[in-house]
Amino acid sequence: MSDREIVAPRVEVVAAAESYRDRAAQLAQSLAGEPGEIRSPRQYRLVVDSQLSIVETDGRRSTTVVIDFDSAALRRRVKAGTTDLLVRACGLHKQSHSVTSVIDATAGLGVDTWILAAQGVEVLAFERDPLVGVLLDDALSRARKAGLSPASLISLQCTDARASLPPIAADVVYLDPMFSKGPRKAASGKGMHFLQDWLGEQFESEDQEELFRWARQLSRQRTVVKRGLKAPVMAGVTPTFQISGKTHRFDVYQQG
Ligand SMILES: C[S@@+](CC[C@H](N)C(=O)[O-])C[C@H]1O[C@@H](n2cnc3c(N)ncnc32)[C@H](O)[C@@H]1O
Repeated sequence: MSDREIVAPRVEVVAAAESYRDRAAQLAQSLAGEPGEIRSPRQYRLVVDSQLSIVETDGRRSTTVVIDFDSAALRRRVKAGTTDLLVRACGLHKQSHSVTSVIDATAGLGVDTWILAAQGVEVLAFERDPLVGVLLDDALSRARKAGLSPASLISLQCTDARASLPPIAADVVYLDPMFSKGPRKAASGKGMHFLQDWLGEQFESEDQEELFRWARQLSRQRTVVKRGLKAPVMAGVTPTFQISGKTHRFDVYQQG
């Protein structure tokens, strides 16, 4: 293959140096045919180097997105510990909690997955978008090599969570579907901006509701759903309680 291989209308895979060409070729093959449709005018380049990054070009501007589990921002959030709203919503803030396993069914760029694993629980993460999946997989491998302890508690499956085999269960199932029909605010942060643009409107409300029903069947203790502050509750089902922050809230559905 040449240095650059077009794998989809909007992504090209580029080896940053000769030594990364084989890996770039493998990735290009695994992403071939994705996404199969042009969803926005932006172009993306997956750069294969000692780390994978996505470079997004929009006219004359370009932005780079890399998942870094050792970033200062993420370390700060981990440091917040049991005051973090997600940690509280999942019930991990109590000394006596009995949560040992969490399914993060919508892993995305893995920030929330990491926050949960940093609390010492095993996290089974699912990501169904192949491009987002390879970025996350690469970041987790780097974190494992660097000896960052949450990484050893995370298993990633790059597939639709609902298609997981064998049948699974966990104490907590967490959903952060992000998109919903109706007006939505611009995403904050480069990573979320990339996800919003790349994934577009694919996540329709019926899809979300099916995932929600799936989650509730699997969770032994609670299902936690991240929502925009003013978004309606999922599938019209009233949560047991809500925890709200400045920009979003967590709807908590306790079992039984
Ligand atoms: C808002 S993002 C999640 C962001 C994530 N919480 C974080 O901290 O980076 C939602 C992600 O869920 C993925 N997704 C949506 N439905 C899914 C499903 N049924 N199975 C697996 N992944 C799914 C999307 O591809 C997207 O990457």
